[in-house]
Amino acid sequence: MNSPQKQARFHYQDLGPASSNSRDEILAGLQETRKRISPKYFYDDTGSLLFEEITRQPEYYPTRTERRILSEHASDMATAIGTGTVLMEPGAGSCEKIRLLLDALKPAAYVPMDIAGEFLQRSASGLQREFPWLRIAALRADFAAMPSLPADLPAGPRTLFYPGSTLGNFSPLQATGFLRHAKRLVGTEGKLLIGIDLHKDRAILDRAYNDRAGVTARFNLNALEHLNRILPADFRTQQFQHLAFYNDTCQRIEMYLESRIEQTVIAAGKRIHFLAGERIHTEISCKYSLESFTALAAAAGLHVRECWRDGDSLFAVFLLSAGSC
Ligand code: AVI
Repeated sequence: MNSPQKQARFHYQDLGPASSNSRDEILAGLQETRKRISPKYFYDDTGSLLFEEITRQPEYYPTRTERRILSEHASDMATAIGTGTVLMEPGAGSCEKIRLLLDALKPAAYVPMDIAGEFLQRSASGLQREFPWLRIAALRADFAAMPSLPADLPAGPRTLFYPGSTLGNFSPLQATGFLRHAKRLVGTEGKLLIGIDLHKDRAILDRAYNDRAGVTARFNLNALEHLNRILPADFRTQQFQHLAFYNDTCQRIEMYLESRIEQTVIAAGKRIHFLAGERIHTEISCKYSLESFTALAAAAGLHVRECWRDGDSLFAVFLLSAGSC
């Protein structure tokens, strides 16, 4: 840790409501021929804790592999990015992974953003205690709603940090939109440091989303408990089962909740009928090769400057920039 020459002041700002947990949006998805809900409904308090538990499962390699890449290459990353950058992190949550880079990167400011305001405030103020020299401006903001940043951030180059292969939870089209928005935020001199899960043997992928302890299954089913509260609805989780598999053609994990029986659920006053075996699509997790991710970045006008991988090429951390190579 740096020796604190002067204590930075911690700022927290609420940029207003996240795009609403719209009842209409959920109902529309449940009434489609192929029923679906957004993966954002995984993340109530229980779901966030279950996700943390997933990351500790032996089969779920992405988190520990990415952490290893970040710690092993922190100083190369700092050399490529430069110190004194304004470092932004959408969906920062526990502000965990950034800790691996701070001493090497010595950013001018760190701007963690998340829609879970209380959680963010707690984790960002914990980070502030650990790194007293760091200027932190935490923002409760929905990055998907394309927030503009506070005007009083330090000048200088900007870097957006988006670890965890969260970009994989978007379709390639949505991911391109996200990257374009990120590119606008960092500006022409800016950079993006993005964690991406790579293609690999499908058995490894299938296992990662079907851990033996059943944590991913509980995480998936918990989305129904969440809907029961917010709609409200009367989903009985024991009447559904977790299903996750790698779709080779689309190069992505697909996750579903499958109805064990024919049943009718009442959701926000509407009757939603399920045949036995009918599914609700809950998540995709796209996997990329170096080439396919380079092409995705190029579609958003970004270039790959560097790519750091683990020895088994399970996961990669890409450094992208808007400027030409
Ligand atoms: C958050 N996201 C990157 C995880 C993933 O691997 O796609 C979410 C997850 N879903 C099931 N397990 C983990």
